[in-house]
Amino acid sequence: MVCGKEMASLPCINDAYLLMEDERILSFGPMSSLPKTIEADVVIDATGKMVLPAFCDSHTHLVYAGSREQEFIDKINGLSYEEIARRGGGILNSARRLHDTTEDELYEEALARVNEIISMGTGAAEIKSGYGLTTEDELKMLRVIKRLRETTPLTIRATFLGAHAVPAEYKGRQSAYVDLIVNEMIPAVGKEGLANFVDSFCDKGFFTCEETERIIEAAAAYGMRPKIHANELALSGGIQVGVKHNALSVDHLEFTGDEEIEALAGSGTMPTLLPGAAFFLGMNYPPARKMIDSGLPVALASDYNPGSSPSGNMKFILSLATIKMKMTPEEAINAATINSAYAMGISDTHGSICVGKRANVLITKEIPSLYFLPYAYTSNLIDSVILGGRVVCR
Ligand code: NIG
Ligand code: FE
Repeated sequence: MVCGKEMASLPCINDAYLLMEDERILSFGPMSSLPKTIEADVVIDATGKMVLPAFCDSHTHLVYAGSREQEFIDKINGLSYEEIARRGGGILNSARRLHDTTEDELYEEALARVNEIISMGTGAAEIKSGYGLTTEDELKMLRVIKRLRETTPLTIRATFLGAHAVPAEYKGRQSAYVDLIVNEMIPAVGKEGLANFVDSFCDKGFFTCEETERIIEAAAAYGMRPKIHANELALSGGIQVGVKHNALSVDHLEFTGDEEIEALAGSGTMPTLLPGAAFFLGMNYPPARKMIDSGLPVALASDYNPGSSPSGNMKFILSLATIKMKMTPEEAINAATINSAYAMGISDTHGSICVGKRANVLITKEIPSLYFLPYAYTSNLIDSVILGGRVVCR
């Protein structure tokens, strides 16, 4: 990971070559040092273009059924995200739709989203469950994620998020639902080996710190490391819980004060910012500048989901990070690549152009400089995407 001031540096080679073999990066450097003996099967001329590591999107909910544009209108008419949730909309709305959708249909819907994000330059993504809220439907989601991992070139990590919302049947009996997560869901998910990580929406009006700790501890027995939804709606204590349990990341962080920054300092927990959600919900952005200036690392992710961020466009996330959170383009690109790879436990193999890493890169169209990427915030500037050494999108 890169932290604090290091985030401002993004090494760049002008007029470079990049060799790939067997899914990996074989070598790279200035054209003047290209070995004369090389005979490549495929040669791509990227004159005038830029080659970057493919985006890493460490926080998505892209397996879901249908969409929720009616709630989008409700928000325009003045309802808040929390009010919509209290009326049985929001996550519970998506859970009802998911229940009525077969595993095959769900796979097809999610596959279209995976192909969409690949075409926008994403090479690796974390995908959460959390629209099931019953053991059977959570497993259905996780099996779809597994199938996406097996059938697409996207590198995928799966997170079990049973604690996303309290289902209607458990209204007023939240602790009984947490019992179900701990005693039934986690063992079922663990036995099938369906999730790398565990998550909990640890926030005002959702799950408490104590409930989150119970869930984290139960999941630890199955080797699932936490990645926690924290401090989106309030100073919930979620950041501190995540750090205490060595979470790989704590995500959202719109409400982050000095104590939270202090807790994160020197920890192995990656603060992960999702400016797409703040943009879409019209809420405050997390204090990225303050975090980086305090020496913290920061990762960026899309939060692609039907309720708070119906977009998986990581280039637009770069624009939001720069325009709304005053991150420099260099910081934003580091946050959306190597630091986001860290936040899903794959920074040894993904997130930067290094010899031996997986050959996941994007090639831009002809652009005047790196800064043009976040600046031209609606232009499609992705020329092609190479994942595992193969051109998957042109
Ligand atoms: O990360 N904050 C919790 N979960 C999602 C939203 C899910 C939804 O509204 O469907 C998020 O923003
Ligand atoms: Fe989320």
